[in-house]
Amino acid sequence: MTFFIKTFGCQMNVNDSEKIRHLLESKGLELSGNEATADIIIINSCAVREKPQEKIFSYIGQFSTAKKIIVAGCVAQVEKGNIFRKKVKVDYVVGTHQFYRIGEIIDEIRRGATTGAATAFSRQWQELVPNPSARSSRVTGYISIMEGCNNFCSYCIVPFTRGREKYRPLAAILREAEILAKQNYQEIVLLGQNVNHWHEPSGSLTFADMLRSLARQIQIPWIRFITSYPGYHDRELLDVMAKNRNIARHIHFPAQSGSSRILKKMQRTYSRSHYVQIIEDFRRAIPEMKFSSDFIVGFPGESSHDFNLTMSLLERMQYESVFSFIYSPRPHTSAAAMAVTVPAAIAKERLLALQKLQADIQLQNNRQLIGQTIRVLIVGRHGKKPGDVIARSESYRVVNFSSQTPVGTFAMVKITAAGSHSLRGEQVDMVV
Ligand code: SAH
Ligand code: SF4
Ligand code: F3S
Repeated sequence: MTFFIKTFGCQMNVNDSEKIRHLLESKGLELSGNEATADIIIINSCAVREKPQEKIFSYIGQFSTAKKIIVAGCVAQVEKGNIFRKKVKVDYVVGTHQFYRIGEIIDEIRRGATTGAATAFSRQWQELVPNPSARSSRVTGYISIMEGCNNFCSYCIVPFTRGREKYRPLAAILREAEILAKQNYQEIVLLGQNVNHWHEPSGSLTFADMLRSLARQIQIPWIRFITSYPGYHDRELLDVMAKNRNIARHIHFPAQSGSSRILKKMQRTYSRSHYVQIIEDFRRAIPEMKFSSDFIVGFPGESSHDFNLTMSLLERMQYESVFSFIYSPRPHTSAAAMAVTVPAAIAKERLLALQKLQADIQLQNNRQLIGQTIRVLIVGRHGKKPGDVIARSESYRVVNFSSQTPVGTFAMVKITAAGSHSLRGEQVDMVV
């Protein structure tokens, strides 16, 4: 039997797909490079906004009914058996806390089960380290350290797709990082919906303590983590990062809005000034520290004044990059009951204005790098330009240059040209 996995959504879904692949390969199934010929199609789904969720059903719609279709992940978790009532044919639904049972589910399907759903939440951390062959990258290794969310931001479906927070023990995190270091991974990314709320499940160690242990014990040049929730910020993290150079100087710190009034309606637990304070503290302690963020425009009640506050926050923060979205009402969330007050056309206008401003900020900051030599990690070869590689800087900027240096190697590059979203350079030297 062959299978194909299509992954939507965030890095945690990418990591879950790696685990699913590991489990299926350990059962003797074979990954197919081609969805058209695979016997089983697994869709690891994302429910965070309506549009991406709809894409999942049109994706499933293209397949013949002879294939076995398994919907896993966040849409599976919230929709459960309702998926069987959609127009497309689905054979099995596997929630976010049940995918580790995928082997048993395949057995049931082999024995002739027609439909089934496994969507119970579990309080237990499921320990599972994927084989290198099941990982999506040979350079960047994902390590899930916590799952779930206790925050219930008023717009967000994630607490309903991932359940309440649960944390992975430090020893297990260190073990997986050690394995990745031995396999020569150059970068690890610690994953969780609120990574900075991690604590030892049966102890008092905090996220900062965990990061300190990891940075000291693991020989991997770049340690990263996503996503940090501003409301859980702990000053201890500044000290740990300042003292450990192998923690990358870049934090994804989603603000969502620049207006304290809207933040309150979003049930975010920090104000604009608290947020600004956190970032300024970081920049004082570690001047080279860089940030990125997420923003939602068109949240119910967002006035043009509120939106201007978001724009001024962007100018003040000078982010490396920003993900921005039009507010999408989601089932189960408290904001879904609020009247949508920002017409779609205005929300779209705000999104474009925000993206334009951020592109200008990035272009301006990227241009200042021209003539400088920076250290980058080569993550892949350019698909369209033979001879070119794609690399990333410590702050996650994309750098393209011509090189024969193997993927997974650090290189020094002199920047020669800058766009909003990428830089171009010439390789000048190599560091090991
Ligand atoms: N745990 C992360 C967010 C995960 S969801 C955090 O707290 O920051 C990723 C991003 O999707 C969010 O940061 C938010 O900007 C966006 N998002 C979530 N729900 C949304 C909704 N209903 N409409 C539009 N964007 C949304
Ligand atoms: Fe969603 Fe808020 Fe939890 Fe992030 S912190 S996952 S935005 S509810
Ligand atoms: Fe999407 Fe689930 Fe991640 S809803 S963003 S795949 S946690």
